[in-house]
Amino acid sequence: MAGMESALDPHTALALLEWQIELGATEAIGDAPLDRYALAEAAPTTAAPGSAGPVPAPEVADPVAVARAAAEACDTLEELRAALEAFELCELKKGARNLVFSDGVPGARVMIVGEAPGRDEDRAGRPFVGRAGQLLDRMLAAIGLGRDASVYITNVMPWRPPQNRDPRPEEIAMMKPFLARHVALAAPDLLVLVGNISCQAVLGKRGITRLRGTWQEALGRPALPMLHPAYLLRQPLAKRETWADLLALQARLRDG
Ligand code: URA
Repeated sequence: MAGMESALDPHTALALLEWQIELGATEAIGDAPLDRYALAEAAPTTAAPGSAGPVPAPEVADPVAVARAAAEACDTLEELRAALEAFELCELKKGARNLVFSDGVPGARVMIVGEAPGRDEDRAGRPFVGRAGQLLDRMLAAIGLGRDASVYITNVMPWRPPQNRDPRPEEIAMMKPFLARHVALAAPDLLVLVGNISCQAVLGKRGITRLRGTWQEALGRPALPMLHPAYLLRQPLAKRETWADLLALQARLRDG
């Protein structure tokens, strides 16, 4: 393949690399195969002082406990963003271009919790900026809300999963302490949970088509599950139900 290598100009090389990241590649590997089992056997072991035996491998920390300690130490949203920037235990971070922390007005009465960034959000470092986000903005505008004045937005996962796959339960569990702290610090009157992943993370239940439009209690405040705008782009007829949910949200804000 030497001829191919010499034909690669930097632009083509970058495009190839971006394509592989897009496909979900998270590790750089060499051309020659490596027998990692043999490497592990050959690895030198250190002897414990005063003993002939090898030192046991250090315990892998419980990532949820590490996340909880990091999140609970934060007293401001800026600190929480910095804690996420410094958090290295979530594999998704390695494949993401940017941390997607939030958008909108911190302290707004309504906080929207989405699922995870997609390609556009990963590029922009802001939640809900792609087609689904534009629909979300139109839905909110229909009841007089907007991220410029009256809504704060985040996602369960702050990093894009490869190929937009669903986040795994252990990834959700790891990021949940950050989300809980995010809600506490942003202190909204109520939450809107868009999509199944948000319901799973915040309510511990899935089944958005049954849950939507039913007020729940979560993280110390009322929470309204709603269909995800990406779903509405595929199933436009479901917009009728979402309109009813938006009116329920508007009424709750008016009454409370
Ligand atoms: N879908 C989400 O749930 N969140 C985003 O930020 C974008 C798409």
